[in-house]
Amino acid sequence: MDTTQFNQVHCADALSFFKQQPTESVQAIVTSPPYLGQRDYGAEGQIGLETHPQAYIEALVEIFREAKRVLRSDGTFWLNIGDNYVGATSQHRDGGSQGTNSRYSRKHMQGIPTHGRAARNRTFYAMGLPMKSLVGMPWRVAFALQEDGWLLRCDIIWHRPSKSESVKDRPTHAHEYIFMFSKSQKYYYDRQYMLSDTGANLQSVWRVGGSPFTGAHFAVFPAELIEPIVLTACPEGGVVLDPFAGSGTVGVVCRQHHRHYLLCDISPENVELAHVVFQKALLQMTSGACSIGRISKSL
Ligand SMILES: C[S@@+](CC[C@H](N)C(=O)[O-])C[C@H]1O[C@@H](n2cnc3c(N)ncnc32)[C@H](O)[C@@H]1O
Repeated sequence: MDTTQFNQVHCADALSFFKQQPTESVQAIVTSPPYLGQRDYGAEGQIGLETHPQAYIEALVEIFREAKRVLRSDGTFWLNIGDNYVGATSQHRDGGSQGTNSRYSRKHMQGIPTHGRAARNRTFYAMGLPMKSLVGMPWRVAFALQEDGWLLRCDIIWHRPSKSESVKDRPTHAHEYIFMFSKSQKYYYDRQYMLSDTGANLQSVWRVGGSPFTGAHFAVFPAELIEPIVLTACPEGGVVLDPFAGSGTVGVVCRQHHRHYLLCDISPENVELAHVVFQKALLQMTSGACSIGRISKSL
């Protein structure tokens, strides 16, 4: 096994990165791709700004088809993905109804795409989804991956108690999904890390607030959320790959638990951020102040 490119953050597009990896070379894939229409990462070739939802789904299916080749036959793939409503964040029309220079825009719009929303809303409408419809994107992606040959083993609900919304005509949406996929019916799964305090099998609703690393202006999953996944899905010395690494949370958890990691992100800015996050986390680890390194039994 060539380990020289392990434990690094590579700046690359996810599909071409997977294409460079040897077949059946990683034990687990743990990732959170950009959600459709939520963020502009400012990088050419980024996922998530497609105007047609089907194009977004197809882009993810293509990337994860290549991921399947790279994953060991006893490996698992964990996909965190959230939903949204047609027209959400629509206080702003295309171009920003209050102007991109307004105080509101400067405060609230950092990273929120200001173009393409109207076209996307039109395609949603053509699909029978009028404004305010819940899109159901996580399940649309999950079904597409199933059709592409992935075995869907579990839909974990990540309950985010800290999530707030200003809506008054429906309950607050406070969850995302983590889909667990495998290539085969039998796979590596160290179940000791998926047990509750009482020793029972962990249930599929996980309440994790967590405090994400600061410095990112985009969605970062908390280390506490992925820690049990990394430990369950990969033995010590194995390799975990995150093709949409962002601030590098997967790498920090791997480092803490002696797993190799392979991280990739298309944005040079985010690769730089991941380096900063790593330095901070390493300092905390050596000073013993790191908040991870324990399994949250309250899952
Ligand atoms: C939701 S964030 C991931 C956050 C990460 N889980 C964390 O904890 O920080 C999605 C990331 O995907 C990256 N990205 C978008 N399109 C990409 C592509 N085609 N290839 C690789 N990375 C991409 C973005 O730059 C962004 O950093």
